[in-house]
Amino acid sequence: MAKAGGGDCSLGVKLGVTFVTDKSRLTGVERYFDDNDIIVSKTNLKGRITYANDVFLQVAGYTEKEILDQPHSLIRHPDMPRCVFKLLWDTIQGGHEIFAYVLNRCKNGDHYWVYAHVTPSCDASGEIVGYHSNRRVPDRCIIEEAIIPLYKDLKAAEDGESNRKQGLVASSGAVANLLQEKNVQYDEFVATL
Ligand SMILES: Cc1cc2nc3c(=O)[nH]c(=O)nc-3n(C[C@H](O)[C@H](O)[C@H](O)COP(=O)(O)O)c2cc1C
Repeated sequence: MAKAGGGDCSLGVKLGVTFVTDKSRLTGVERYFDDNDIIVSKTNLKGRITYANDVFLQVAGYTEKEILDQPHSLIRHPDMPRCVFKLLWDTIQGGHEIFAYVLNRCKNGDHYWVYAHVTPSCDASGEIVGYHSNRRVPDRCIIEEAIIPLYKDLKAAEDGESNRKQGLVASSGAVANLLQEKNVQYDEFVATL
């Protein structure tokens, strides 16, 4: 697969993922997909996968049979801060769209970064009947210079607490403080990185 990601980032490709917490299930090898490709999935209301396009299957390394009806957390990478997913779910369950940078894990333990757009899918009466996500290749410089350091701090805030609940409070508080310092809402923050 072509290496893509746009930009002439000074840090180049030496990045890798350095804040791995569960090395036994990760290879440290990054996968890339084409700038023109879109990774698509749909879920039911509980986040179980109801559709995945060929690019999804190819990049994540699963067959359709393996992934259908599985929880989307199947491709969750352990370095992702939980507060990002809380924000994602709070937003889409509230009927709104969200953009987020997400690190995913492939079946064999490789990983890949995406810039995800997640939206509710509604029926004719406006009722939410499921969720839909389109993911593109993220800007390399944004990943390396903004997202990796931010997620590392958020993960550390979570791991520094005695339990998951307190961890989520700590990292969500850190995000709230960051947005307050910058005097922006989350969507504006993400859009202007
Ligand atoms: C449409 C949709 C797409 C999602 N895409 C991803 C994804 O690409 N990677 C991911 O880790 N979680 C994704 N999630 C969030 C997962 O449902 C889940 O909340 C997350 O993996 C964290 O897992 P956990 O809640 O079990 O900790 C998506 C959810 C929805 C509704």
